[in-house]
Amino acid sequence: MLLCSIFQTRLFSEIELTKIPMSAKKVIILGASGNIAKHVIDILTKEDHIQLTLFLRSAKRLKNKDISKARIIEGDVLNYNLLKEAIKGQDIVYANLAGELEAMAKNIVKAMGETGVKKIIFITSIGIYDVPLSSLLRRYRYAADVIEASNLEYTILRPTWFTNVNEIDYETTRKGEPEKGSVISQKSLATLITKIIESPEKYVRENLGVNKPN
Ligand SMILES: NC(=O)c1ccc[n+]([C@@H]2O[C@H](COP(=O)([O-])OP(=O)(O)OC[C@H]3O[C@@H](n4cnc5c(N)ncnc54)[C@H](OP(=O)(O)O)[C@@H]3O)[C@@H](O)[C@H]2O)c1
Repeated sequence: MLLCSIFQTRLFSEIELTKIPMSAKKVIILGASGNIAKHVIDILTKEDHIQLTLFLRSAKRLKNKDISKARIIEGDVLNYNLLKEAIKGQDIVYANLAGELEAMAKNIVKAMGETGVKKIIFITSIGIYDVPLSSLLRRYRYAADVIEASNLEYTILRPTWFTNVNEIDYETTRKGEPEKGSVISQKSLATLITKIIESPEKYVRENLGVNKPN
């Protein structure tokens, strides 16, 4: 594990570059201690062509067994300068966040715009286009509005409620279509996210509901 402050990141990245192929895809996970992020990290750490940066408030909260190849930055997404420095040079941003999502989305869009990073995968929730909008979902909806108003190559995901079932079984719906289903396994959502990371040209400027079929 490489635990570094933002000021040490470049030094460590020079060391790491000797181990990672030049063509490696650089992926940063914001909120890397989150449940879905854990599954995504488990999948991506097995891939040699992915250079993973884990951005999170406390590295102690990481639950993954093997993060030896990942670069770790402890930081808050609401700290704009730190966030921008972390995003600089990445190919893909995957936001697995909770909390002040609208403010975080604004920071992320600004940082990506200023550093020229285009692709973002942002998790929100089922129900954000319901009328009337549940007060619990407002922060997800406002964050999605911020991302959609940007010129980024975004993929917004609106998953149904998570289960821990060990299965991969999902379908997606497009924005404007009725959302389906009521549950999705964490493993399924993580699998979809890693597929988008592998093929970032998929689902560009799309906003997808994700659910277990039937
Ligand atoms: N549970 C469900 O059934 C369900 C259904 C649909 C959608 N969702 C939503 O899907 C998203 C992903 O779910 P999840 O279970 O993976 O979420 P999670 O476990 O709650 O992870 C969210 C992460 O955001 C991080 N975070 C919060 N504020 C931050 C900040 N200012 N700077 C940096 N990191 C910050 C938290 O880090 P700390 O460890 O530092 O707190 C946490 O690791 C969440 O928004 C969730 O609400 C959940």
